[in-house]
Amino acid sequence: MDISRGFALTVKNITVLGSGIMGHGIAQVSAMAGYNIVLRDIEQSFLDKAMEKIRWSLEKLVSKEKITKQESDAILSRIKTVVDLGQAVQSADLVIEAVPEIMELKKKVYAELDKVADSRIIFASNTSTLPITEIANTTSRPEKFVGIHFFNPPQLMKLVEVIPGQKTNKDVVDLTVNFVKSVKKEPVICKKDVPGFIVNRLFIPMVHEACWLKERSGYTMEQIDSAVKFTMGFPMGIFELADFTGMDVIHKATIELELRDKKVIFPHPDIEKLYNEKKLGQKSGEGFYKYSDDKYERIQLDEDLAKKCNPVSLVANILNNAAWLVTNNASDIPEIEKAAQLGLGLKKPIFDTAKEFGVKNIISELNSLASKYGKFYEPDPLLATMQ
Ligand SMILES: NC(=O)c1ccc[n+]([C@@H]2O[C@H](COP(=O)([O-])OP(=O)(O)OC[C@H]3O[C@@H](n4cnc5c(N)ncnc54)[C@H](O)[C@@H]3O)[C@@H](O)[C@H]2O)c1
Repeated sequence: MDISRGFALTVKNITVLGSGIMGHGIAQVSAMAGYNIVLRDIEQSFLDKAMEKIRWSLEKLVSKEKITKQESDAILSRIKTVVDLGQAVQSADLVIEAVPEIMELKKKVYAELDKVADSRIIFASNTSTLPITEIANTTSRPEKFVGIHFFNPPQLMKLVEVIPGQKTNKDVVDLTVNFVKSVKKEPVICKKDVPGFIVNRLFIPMVHEACWLKERSGYTMEQIDSAVKFTMGFPMGIFELADFTGMDVIHKATIELELRDKKVIFPHPDIEKLYNEKKLGQKSGEGFYKYSDDKYERIQLDEDLAKKCNPVSLVANILNNAAWLVTNNASDIPEIEKAAQLGLGLKKPIFDTAKEFGVKNIISELNSLASKYGKFYEPDPLLATMQ
């Protein structure tokens, strides 16, 4: 192993902290790519549950003849479960942290980890919304700290956002990108540690904007969702997507985004209200829509309903946030489109939809909204150059 830069240039052994929704999936895809995995949680029973889920997922792949039984056995043999943190990171080259999205908890976990982990070990956080630089600076190795944002479920979702913090070494970013490719995922680098990174910066504010559109226009949710699906090329409506994601996730992300940058989001009270009423979406049986059972259920949306709604304010919202990422050197248009396609399932590029609506019309919509509702809506300077 070459550790001349103070860290291993090739990763073989990975420790995943947290065996929940994300951790067990990340462990599985990494083991499938040949890495040796130690999965760590605070109780053995959590680890046993995670292994059950991995076994179930691998069995499905065997039954679909995607992998052989021998391959499945070999993958399982590469995953060890450990509760003791020191033991868990003993031979790690890379630690991927997927513990709950609570800043104080993450800081506590990194304080413990930093003490027991050899100084050459790279730390990668799967956080969706917390600032990478702030977490990195609580450790003794901010140059070996990076954001690695897998999407749910990691077994299926192709996109992984890689986010360097302010001090992250370029070689650590390259290593992370290569690791992501090696587990057959598509990396998109968010060049700056900005609130929401790329995908959540596009998605979360748009959920709020859809609530504002509904309130201001009187359109029904089905009309707005149909326009989002058929006119904007989303895989489903925005209210549907919010229900699918969960109001708990959206509410928490909203708080984090607003805390870090008031310009990124204009929160609508309905999200907090639904969250407080425990109407979390599909998982609780009710969110924006009601669900009769916990099976994945589609709302009836169609092109006639889509024609009844002009979603220009939503196109303006997502375009303005995309433009912000470009103007602030966090990303560029091809990378944003790739992230939107793989992370949100968009079938049509955002900038193409914008051209269909006319950038001039979008700017005038934003200016009109800004005059009524404030600075949040002011068009990003990039838009003026696109006319
Ligand atoms: N769920 C999603 O849709 C999603 C998507 C992308 C990213 N993320 C991010 O991934 C991270 C994990 O989210 P999740 O949904 O998997 O959470 P989860 O609650 O399903 O799992 C978290 C796991 O971490 C364990 N844990 C708590 N403290 C620990 C410690 N000190 N050491 C090791 N394990 C510990 C918990 O017991 C639990 O098993 C969060 O940062 C979240 O923002 C979540």
